[in-house]
Amino acid sequence: MKDQDIVDLSWDEFDEMRDPRPAENDFDKVVERAITRRGFLGGALAFGSGAAVFGTAMLTSARAQAAAHGGFAFEPIGISTDHEIHVPEGYQWKTLVRWGDALWSDAEGAYDAETGVSVEMSDKVFGENTDGMELFDVDGKEVIAVNSEYVNPKINLPAASEGVPASAEEVMLLKNLQGVTVMEVAMGNDGYEVVKDSPHNRRITHETQMTMDGPAAGHDLMKTNADPEGMSPKGTMNNCGSGRTLWGTYLTCEENFNGYFGATGAYDETEGVVRYGIGGEGRYAYEKFDARYDLSQEPNEPNRHGWITEIDPSDPDSTPVKHTALGRFKHENAEMVQAADGRVVVYMGDDERGEFIYRYVSNGFYEEGGSTEGLLSDGQLFVAKFNDDMTGEWIALTPDATGMSLEETLVFSRIAASKVGATTMDRPEWIAAHPAKAEAYCALTNNSKRGGDGMPVNAANPRETNEYGQIVRWVPAGDDHGADTFNWDLYVMAGNPVVYDNAYAGSENVTDGNMFNSPDGMAFDSQGMLWIQTDGDDSNEGDFEGQGNNQMLVGNTETGEIARFLTAPNGAEVTGLCWNLDRTVAFVGIQHPGGSWPDGNGAPRSSVIQVWREDGQPVG
Ligand code: FEO
Ligand code: CA
Ligand code: CA
Repeated sequence: MKDQDIVDLSWDEFDEMRDPRPAENDFDKVVERAITRRGFLGGALAFGSGAAVFGTAMLTSARAQAAAHGGFAFEPIGISTDHEIHVPEGYQWKTLVRWGDALWSDAEGAYDAETGVSVEMSDKVFGENTDGMELFDVDGKEVIAVNSEYVNPKINLPAASEGVPASAEEVMLLKNLQGVTVMEVAMGNDGYEVVKDSPHNRRITHETQMTMDGPAAGHDLMKTNADPEGMSPKGTMNNCGSGRTLWGTYLTCEENFNGYFGATGAYDETEGVVRYGIGGEGRYAYEKFDARYDLSQEPNEPNRHGWITEIDPSDPDSTPVKHTALGRFKHENAEMVQAADGRVVVYMGDDERGEFIYRYVSNGFYEEGGSTEGLLSDGQLFVAKFNDDMTGEWIALTPDATGMSLEETLVFSRIAASKVGATTMDRPEWIAAHPAKAEAYCALTNNSKRGGDGMPVNAANPRETNEYGQIVRWVPAGDDHGADTFNWDLYVMAGNPVVYDNAYAGSENVTDGNMFNSPDGMAFDSQGMLWIQTDGDDSNEGDFEGQGNNQMLVGNTETGEIARFLTAPNGAEVTGLCWNLDRTVAFVGIQHPGGSWPDGNGAPRSSVIQVWREDGQPVG
């Protein structure tokens, strides 16, 4: 495959091409047998027959309750297919910041509609492809930490390059436009604005010096020529979803890090390299200009990526920390809650077809204002098993259970999890925990390969060729996130009830008025409402007819009802959501818009927007 072909692939298509899943998964075969015995699967077409019954039975309560009022504070909106943003009547929106906007005065005007941003200015502006974000109260100032997941080389490099960098300088430009932005925001005369030159403003890129902690820090697998101690990695990359600690720091989640590595010569195709989809040609040709990204020169460098990385938004001089205790995989987000006894619990998804949902539990206890030492470096990583009887368990990834060393279970968590019979999931995206009760939700965005070799349907992922996705919910035993068992159900199966009248129509809480595909970002608001963002097929054709552009919906998890709140410009996904301190403004990320949104001239620009109510009341 030529370079220019690779850059044209979406990350999802890149995953599909690399397809790192093992062909066989023993546990799946066991589940398939179990489900068949129970009569859920009637024939060759698993979902069209028995599993549909399963899905319907599971959601009877949602249907029964659907008649109840959803308690939404807005009138739901219809779909859109245009290049605009739409919000309900009584709400307004405005752009907060776009790719290329200056964070410091000396970068004012750095963005040019024809040529983008120069390499000199590239780490002084807001990065591209905004994703997860959180807002922090830093001594009364409102500070947002926000990810820039990836970069579009064809937009950022000279047109003649066809998206392939031709020099180390061009590689640096691409590196600088990704990573994390920390920025102060404040209410101006006409809505929130970025506070230029704020002492809190900071860019963290693929080059920023970091450190690491936890059991795998300093292990041989972490050592490189530039860092023989294996303790000082550089850069955080493909920062997707986000999280926040109980002590007010930001968690950025390294997702498709594999795509940044390539090889200019021979390299060892170890199980770890293959299972993480690393190798061959990198998406951005970094390896041709920077040995750090060249597997044939630095085989351990990829082991230093794919972690949960903690950033202190209150201290622009702080060194970000990669937490190896939380495992290495394609991290979507990190949802931190507390166990009943005060231990810290972090739920995390690995976004790839057939990968897993994980939980980390600290050994120490968190108390407000107390020491946080060791809370993210000393604990146990678990992986989820969703039984077909709607019970579940967290299986500890210990050396005993996996036959691997502790360090290996963390660096190669996927391999460890496969050994203990974790349940393969339909691409785990964001996990959101209810603020008032012990319940957690994970968006399983879609899985084109479900039902294929090595990935039979299972009860939590019941549809073959699942193009719509579902949201799985679990309630831990004893209402304690620290418990090792749980009960689960599906809060919603997305689908299209206009095109299908079988299980691909979706669960009963999906109607022709609220349908969507590919749930991805999720967050609970202060009222216990679940905000759902989508990143799916926005063709509005065929199986997706009537679903329109990507969108943000609000789910009532008591009644099951779901209402559409916002629609994005065509081409964009909606990702990243946080609120200002008094909750009167919601900040929403609009990633990879099509056309020339939002300026109407030049390249499309990923942006963070602000949404508020005209009557000044809280938005959630
Ligand atoms: Fe970056 Fe899984 O989304
Ligand atoms: Ca995502
Ligand atoms: Ca996605």
